[in-house]
Amino acid sequence: MNPFSATISRASHRFPFLAAAALALACATLPLQHSAAQLKEKSVSSSTDPWWKHAVVYEIYPRSYQDSTGDGIGDLNGITSRLDYLQKLGVDAVWIAPMYPSPQVDFGYDISNYESVDPQYGTLADMDRLIAEGQKHHVRVLLDMVLNHTSDKHQWFIEASSSRTNPKHEWYVWNDGIPADSPGVTPYQKRFEHDGPNGKVVPPNNWISGFGGSAWEWVPAVRQFYYHEFYKQQPDLNWRNPAVEKAMFGSMQFWLDRGIAGFRLDAIPSLFEDLQLRNNPELGGINAQGDPNVGNTYTDNLPEVHDVIRRMRAMIAKYPGDRVLIGETYLPNTAELDKWYGGTAHNELQLPMDMLIGFHGLHAKLSAADFRQRIEEVETQIHGAQPLIVFDNHDNVRAIDRYGDGIHDDQINKLLATMLFTTRATSLMYYGQEIGMRTTTPTQRDDVRDPIGITGWPNERGRDGERTPMQWTPGPQAGFSTNPHTWLPIPPSYKTINVAVESKDPNSQLNWFKKLIALRRDIPALHGGTMTMLDTSNPDILSYVRSTGSGPAVVIAMNFTAAPKTITLNLAGSGVTGTTVKTFAASDATLTSISTLNNITLPPYASWIAGVQ
Ligand code: GLC
Repeated sequence: MNPFSATISRASHRFPFLAAAALALACATLPLQHSAAQLKEKSVSSSTDPWWKHAVVYEIYPRSYQDSTGDGIGDLNGITSRLDYLQKLGVDAVWIAPMYPSPQVDFGYDISNYESVDPQYGTLADMDRLIAEGQKHHVRVLLDMVLNHTSDKHQWFIEASSSRTNPKHEWYVWNDGIPADSPGVTPYQKRFEHDGPNGKVVPPNNWISGFGGSAWEWVPAVRQFYYHEFYKQQPDLNWRNPAVEKAMFGSMQFWLDRGIAGFRLDAIPSLFEDLQLRNNPELGGINAQGDPNVGNTYTDNLPEVHDVIRRMRAMIAKYPGDRVLIGETYLPNTAELDKWYGGTAHNELQLPMDMLIGFHGLHAKLSAADFRQRIEEVETQIHGAQPLIVFDNHDNVRAIDRYGDGIHDDQINKLLATMLFTTRATSLMYYGQEIGMRTTTPTQRDDVRDPIGITGWPNERGRDGERTPMQWTPGPQAGFSTNPHTWLPIPPSYKTINVAVESKDPNSQLNWFKKLIALRRDIPALHGGTMTMLDTSNPDILSYVRSTGSGPAVVIAMNFTAAPKTITLNLAGSGVTGTTVKTFAASDATLTSISTLNNITLPPYASWIAGVQ
């Protein structure tokens, strides 16, 4: 089976905006025209910029990075032992996926205590040491904050589900259900029928869980349903109750006080659901989990969430050191993304993730025109705020596999990295991306660990493939663990795709990533210059120039096709006047001696970065 289709079906189910976004893109007229006002909003860097504006943020899935105890599972001390590596790579901050105490149904995204560390991963003292050692290595620590739901084993939910009169009951989203014979009840709703106090009841509407089944789970003790957007072991919190906000902000402060640099906010657009419980739109057909396809109009991205985010921003603003809020924001378009910055007020998240650039590829091919359109949109339509680009995470097939053609995969991974590190956006990368790690999806159901891959097999094979252990060496367990029984198997590719081997190869993925990150740090135009698209009607080559107005400007060009393509770059209109061209980095040796902007031939999927003075 095509390994991508699993993720496509998951993504379009969990994140139906993606399908809408891809369609909108396909219908968009591509020539780029912006009003003078939009262009004026483009930002240039200044010395007072907060650290996150030029940062490279590196996501770590803690189970899979480095095992220091020999139990086959990664841990915090393992991460600390790799800080030298991260510093040399040029990473400014790590985002650590949830490491809190958890039953691990959703591998940490089901939290049972927000103010501690799961013993599998270490102790609070280990976390303090990671933060302190990180500071010495200039690597900040960002934590993942799951605000939409808790684990069903969290003390709050245990109390909440014990009786309707328990003070914690109103911390979650409950419903009595509707009589099973109510008009309009569907056969699907009837599958979830229970004995209510006055007869048979079914869930109040057609909301389904992104992870399978009805989003409503019955609790006999209270004779009510509770709402869960994800697994039933992840009950949604009731954010209309001020006590919930108070408790959650308190937990965030607990970590901010310990010196973390900010948070990645999990599933943050999902905090609120429609009070009238209206049915989500039916989209037709069934998904990989066997449920009807429905949209998320009434369960996602409701306007109420922005009030919470503004208060959260005000809360973290009280801390010194530019603490940052990054959002997991799958949204349908850039106008919606702009709202997550707070529009002109810039008073919400500093860095909501732009998932339209890096993840629209779940549905689209590698296309210079599509990426140009997307990058220009976020450059010009977010009121001068700072974009955040990301191609890889722990929920989706790795970009090298999504965009790779099986022949030029290495060049394509380098091209994606070139986009990631050379636009004006803050860069967010995922462990293993820098060595070209592949998605290794289980081939039999018995091997699957991610529950959605078990319930959805074979159409949905889960997310294990993008969560396999980091490949450090060609030795036993790829240097990840001393234990031959690692929590997920080490992919067979580890013999050649690993940090040790790639460090010695000047043309490796790893050295390409290192070089780009260093250029971005050291060359002012790449660090914080403006960005102007070049050759904007070229369907095959994406090119742009970065400039501060003084010192060398930097030209970037990438061939998005499998054939060699020749371009002549005209800088007139970009304000850059220099004509002396010097290659800073090229993914193909034929490009290193180029000294002109005329008739440059880029080999298939090649990337070229040059100074112009
Ligand atoms: C986010 C996480 C994903 C998790 C889900 C529920 O999408 O990235 O891994 O399963 O939220 O917390």
